[in-house]
Amino acid sequence: MGTQSNISDTLSGKIILIVGGTSGIGLAAAIQAKSFGAKVIVVGFDAERAKEAAEQHGLSGWRAADVTKRAAIESALADIEHVDHLVLLAGSFVVGKVLEADVDHLRRAFEERVWAAIYTLRALGDRLAADGSVTFISGALVDRPNAYGTAVLAAASAAMEALARGLALELAPRRVNTLSPGPIDTPLLGKALGDGRDAFVEGVSGQHCHYIVSGALRKPGRQSCS
Ligand SMILES: NC(=O)c1ccc[n+]([C@@H]2O[C@H](COP(=O)([O-])OP(=O)(O)OC[C@H]3O[C@@H](n4cnc5c(N)ncnc54)[C@H](OP(=O)(O)O)[C@@H]3O)[C@@H](O)[C@H]2O)c1
Repeated sequence: MGTQSNISDTLSGKIILIVGGTSGIGLAAAIQAKSFGAKVIVVGFDAERAKEAAEQHGLSGWRAADVTKRAAIESALADIEHVDHLVLLAGSFVVGKVLEADVDHLRRAFEERVWAAIYTLRALGDRLAADGSVTFISGALVDRPNAYGTAVLAAASAAMEALARGLALELAPRRVNTLSPGPIDTPLLGKALGDGRDAFVEGVSGQHCHYIVSGALRKPGRQSCS
């Protein structure tokens, strides 16, 4: 891991576009990148939340677009001249059992991740710096399944890992990586589950004792559960 000063040397003045950067993990990353001198532009679904996040944290810009809509993401990124580092974190907690849930709902797991990544990369094209990077997010569900209706979300997350490996070759010399966090306490579960959030966390806690200590999820930006 780099020291504070060499991270600043690397990020200072760089333009970082964080799709899904208006809340949770993405917003924590945006705040941290800004603290290292980067110019951060965040994209989210909800315009009010995006504007508020950018204004409250002094970010360089914000956009609102549904990443599952190709034309919307193209239009949102049209006036951004250059991006050094692209971070793709947008996504909702798509939960539902394969034999029970609405199929269009389950399909969103892939649309928000795999197809959104393809739309965003194509929208930026050569505006993504040749010496820049692309970062995707996957998740611990890929290797630690549970019986709570997350099989399709796990599959979409695993697909991001495969996509990154192929894109690392296609987009070289740009670097392409995927992060795979365990459960982190963000607004994600509350947005999808509402009042059912606590019961879900309780149920999954038993299966993810390595990640969730005493029923508490990690906070974004924190290195450990304690
Ligand atoms: N939290 C975890 O435990 C965990 C673990 C592993 C992986 N992940 C993944 O990490 C990513 C970020 O999760 P988080 O926990 O930080 O969630 P979060 O706080 O809900 O943030 C999600 C971000 O994605 C945006 N977004 C969602 N759907 C979008 C869409 N269709 N178009 C544009 N933007 C959209 C949200 O914008 P709005 O707020 O406006 O909707 C927000 O900026 C997700 O892909 C999630 O699956 C999370």
